[in-house]
Amino acid sequence: MKKYQKYIEQKNNILAINGGLPVRKKPFPNRNLFNIEEKNILNKVIGNSIKTGIPIRYRGKYEEIYCKKFVKFMGGGNAHCVNSGTNALLCCLHALNLKKNSEIITPSVTDVGCVMPIILMGHTPVPTDIDKNSFNINLDQIKKKISKKTKAVIVAHIGGEVANIIEIKKFLKKKKIFLIEDCSQSHGARLKNIKVGNFGDISFFSTMSSKIHCTGGTGGIVFANNKKLFSRSFLFSDRGKLFKKNRFTGYYTDLGLNCTLDDISAAIGCVQIEKLKSIIYRTNKIGEYVKKKLIKMNSPSQIGKQIKNSLNVYWFLRIKLDKNKIKVSKKKYCDALKSEGINLSEKYLYNPFNHKWTKKYKKNLKKSSASLKNYEKSLKEQYVIYIRENYSKKDVNDILKAIKKVDKFYKM
Ligand SMILES: Cc1ncc(COP(=O)(O)O)c(C=O)c1O
Repeated sequence: MKKYQKYIEQKNNILAINGGLPVRKKPFPNRNLFNIEEKNILNKVIGNSIKTGIPIRYRGKYEEIYCKKFVKFMGGGNAHCVNSGTNALLCCLHALNLKKNSEIITPSVTDVGCVMPIILMGHTPVPTDIDKNSFNINLDQIKKKISKKTKAVIVAHIGGEVANIIEIKKFLKKKKIFLIEDCSQSHGARLKNIKVGNFGDISFFSTMSSKIHCTGGTGGIVFANNKKLFSRSFLFSDRGKLFKKNRFTGYYTDLGLNCTLDDISAAIGCVQIEKLKSIIYRTNKIGEYVKKKLIKMNSPSQIGKQIKNSLNVYWFLRIKLDKNKIKVSKKKYCDALKSEGINLSEKYLYNPFNHKWTKKYKKNLKKSSASLKNYEKSLKEQYVIYIRENYSKKDVNDILKAIKKVDKFYKM
C-alpha cells in the first residue's frame, strides 16, 4: 500500500504532459442550463396549443412577458427579441438610417456576426485594433480610424469584460456619431453600476445557449433607450408590419426581414431571465476569486487588466501570461495546462476579418487586418480559460491547482 501511495505521489509530481497524473481527472461538468423549470414552461406552451388548437407562433404571450422582464432587468428602456445576435445587429443598423457606404468602426475581436450585417446593409466595416490590455476596442483606436464617413461605432464587451464605454460615448456624442453596443458576451456586466447596453444609442445581445443569458438554442435582443430607434428596429424585424395592440393591422410600413423569435424560445427566455441574476453573481464570483488567488500565487498567469469601476461577468477568463517569467514558450505552458485537464484556448482567434470571406469582399472593407498590432500581440501574450457558472469550488480550485503545478515546473 505504501509503495502504491509513493508511486501516486511521484506521478502527481510529474507534469501530465510528461506522463504524470493530471490534476483534473474528470472532465469539467456540462452546463446543465436547462432544468425542470424550462421543461414545465415548454409543457405549458405546447399543452396550451394542444388544448386550444391554436398553433405556437411569434408575438405571443411569452414574448410580451419576456421583453418586459428584460426591460426590467436593464432598469428601463425598450427591448424586442429576435432570432439571433447577428440579426439583432441588422435591425440596429436599419434603425440608424445611415447613408449608403457609411463607415462603421468595428472591433477586431468579436464574432463575424458583428461584422457581416454591416456589409449586407451596404456599409463599410472599418477593422479597428483592440486595447493593449484587453480584447476590447478603446477611444484611441477609434480616433485612429475616424473619417468623415464614420457614422457609427460598434463596441463589443468581449468575454464579459466591460470596454471603456463612458469615454467612448462622450467622444462620439460630441462628434454626432452613433454608438452601437454589442453585449452578446456580457449580459449584466456594469460600469459605474450601469448595465452595459444602456450606453449605446442602440444595443444588441445574442441569446444563444452558450451565452450568459439565453432564449434556447438561438436568439437575440435589440435594446434601446431611444424610442424612435427602437421602433425602427422593431418594424424592420418583422417586414415592416404595423401592429396595433399586438394585432397585425394589415399594413406594411417599412422595408424589413423576418427576424422574429417564436414563443417557445421566448418562454425559455422567461425562465432563464429569472436565473440570470444568479448566473451573473456566480461568474463574477468565480472570476474575482481566480483573480485574487493568481495574484497571491505570484503566477506568470494573471487575469488581464480591467476598467476601473467595472463589474465583469467573465464569460471566460482572459489570462495574461508574463513570458519573462516562464522558461518555456506560451504554447508549451498552455499545452501543459491542457494536459492537466484545463479547458483553454492558447489563442483567442476571434478576429472576424481574418477569414476567407474577406477575400471576396475586400472592396467592402476599409483596411486589411495588417494594422491590428495589439490584436497580434494579444495572441502572443494572452490565453483564455473557459468557465461556467455551475463550476463548484473544487472545479475552480482544480484550475488554480493546475496553474500552480505548471508554474512549479515552468516558472523562472
Ligand atoms: C460578441 C458577439 N457578437 C455577435 C455574436 C453573434 O450572435 P449570434 O451567434 O446569436 O448571431 C456573437 C455570438 O457568438 C458574439 O459573441
